[in-house]
Amino acid sequence: MIIADIHSHILPGVDDGSSSLAQSLDMLEEAYNNGTRHMVATPHFGGRSFAVNKDTVLELTGELNEELARRDINLTVYPGNEIRCTPDTLNSIKDNIVCSANQNRYLLVELPFDQPDCDIESLVLNCAEMGHSLVLAHPERYQYLMKDFKTLEKLLRRGVLLQCNADSIYGLAGRKVKHYAHKLMRKNMVSFVASDCHSVIQRGPQLSAAYNTIAKLYGSDTANTLLYDNPMRMIAGKKITK
Ligand SMILES: [Fe+2]
Repeated sequence: MIIADIHSHILPGVDDGSSSLAQSLDMLEEAYNNGTRHMVATPHFGGRSFAVNKDTVLELTGELNEELARRDINLTVYPGNEIRCTPDTLNSIKDNIVCSANQNRYLLVELPFDQPDCDIESLVLNCAEMGHSLVLAHPERYQYLMKDFKTLEKLLRRGVLLQCNADSIYGLAGRKVKHYAHKLMRKNMVSFVASDCHSVIQRGPQLSAAYNTIAKLYGSDTANTLLYDNPMRMIAGKKITK
């Protein structure tokens, strides 16, 4: 099993993820030992007062890759951001200070966990006009969205792709979140499963258990699509059809 992880807080000292280079390397080693060979670094941009800009992401991603090469660990880290949808987000995208996944068409976005403070539908249309495709991080964690399935379906029709968290799949994020994640899985609405790792322990970087659970419940082709094929297409900026 080879895994590509499109959502990680692996860059050291910039958001609520890894706090040091040593911790990042522990996380990467753990990911490598669990089959991950490609990982997109997605520090927060917007929300909780984090705004890790593109220049910082590129610099730190380069440093991590140099360190991995020095240690002979065959894992590549790609630049990216997890962008909180706010009324300012569009300006940040226009100003080119946020980093899309591997600097190509896909933007990983998150919504507020409580009352939304932006119009996600118009944001999607505007991003699409700028040539970006959106990947919505962990929809199963937004209760208001999961209770409003029509809006979620509308977003999908407009080309938004969904990324579930691995810990949601096997229940570590609570029963309700697990229920929502599997509802999305059964409806074939999920395009990616990723770690959203913040440390070795908190939402860890290990994805082999999620891969095996998905393979058991939904078949190995689905596990491969969600944890390798689609992530690699995202990294390469290729069209994703399932
Ligand atoms: Fe995240």
